Amino acid sequence: MSSRLSGVLALKDFEPLAQRMLPRPIHGYVAGAAEDNSSLRANRAGFDDFALVPRTLVNVSGRSQRQSLFGVTYESPFGIAPMGLAALSGYRGDIALAEAAHATGIPAVLSGSSLIPMEEVAAAAPGTWFQAYLPGDLGRIFALLDRVRSSGFETLVVTVDIPVGANRENNIRTGFSTPLRPSLRLAMDGLTHPRWLAGTFARTLLRHGMPHFENSFAERGAPILSSNVLRDFSARDHFDWSHVARIRQAWRGPLVIKGLLSAADAAQAARQGIDGVIVSNHGGRQLDGAVAPMKVLEHIVDAAGSMPVMVDSGFRRGSDVLKALALGARMVFVGRPFNHALAVAGRAGVTHGIKLLQSEIDRNMAMLGVASCSDIDRTYLFKQHPASS
Ligand code: GLV
Repeated sequence: MSSRLSGVLALKDFEPLAQRMLPRPIHGYVAGAAEDNSSLRANRAGFDDFALVPRTLVNVSGRSQRQSLFGVTYESPFGIAPMGLAALSGYRGDIALAEAAHATGIPAVLSGSSLIPMEEVAAAAPGTWFQAYLPGDLGRIFALLDRVRSSGFETLVVTVDIPVGANRENNIRTGFSTPLRPSLRLAMDGLTHPRWLAGTFARTLLRHGMPHFENSFAERGAPILSSNVLRDFSARDHFDWSHVARIRQAWRGPLVIKGLLSAADAAQAARQGIDGVIVSNHGGRQLDGAVAPMKVLEHIVDAAGSMPVMVDSGFRRGSDVLKALALGARMVFVGRPFNHALAVAGRAGVTHGIKLLQSEIDRNMAMLGVASCSDIDRTYLFKQHPASS
């Protein structure tokens, strides 16, 4: 293990190392959230509503954290959430994340705001899921989905919590925008982070040219660095359930809706034949003040019937994952810590993070007295603040 990783004992240990490694606008983009970070904080606090209630004297020697979903058996009940611009955090970031997940048997989701063509990611890590931000325009939707399908993706995640861009004041404060605008300040941010400049940015430019938003649409999008090009976010606010119905008719593989927080929306997704939902407030990055997924998870599980419910936003520990499983989630997605891990040590860093979370889950399953994910239910939880949930 590299010396950089030897002090990383928990997922949270990646963040200060990543902050030192990355130029301020890039770290700020990854770590930041919207407006006052209320939802970002609420996400962590949401876990405190529940305490674990272990059973003792259970033979857990044969325990396994494997979890089956959509006909695939994964090694763990967690995966890597989609994250835009990962190739700015680490060299070939989208591929490093997807390969680390593939090699360890967990799901990874490629963001539609990514900078490496989806075809390359799918070839490097078969089984990766694809996440799309879609406009309310069937022509553009189907053109993108044709490309996603022919690249080999089977599981499609449609994110629905971004009808408009969020108010990310922190991006303005740190000088981040997409595209990044060339400036003396940006140059200084790069020059003062030489390891990132040489190992990620210059290496990418020399070997692969200027990164572009490759996967937002069927055709290539804006470059990551430009003084005048604008990204196209048009018609996202037109996107509604009628488009989802058309996508459902056309997409044969598993179709997942990400970004729901309401039980009524989950019930609607189930009625429309959606294969699964991800309960999420986008890591606190969209509507600030939106409820923490852990507060609403059990209601959504109850409304979803047999449709699998997944969850993200704020997960950092094996015990967090086990609490979500106890409430009925089938899979948990973890974002920022793996982005930080990528910045710190590339694919090896991501693999290290996956192994840390796997070992926490394994150890905690044993102490909780459960031998498999499907053994865990709400009887393993004590609700500490029923009035506030
Ligand atoms: C993209 O999904 C972002 O949250 O920045």
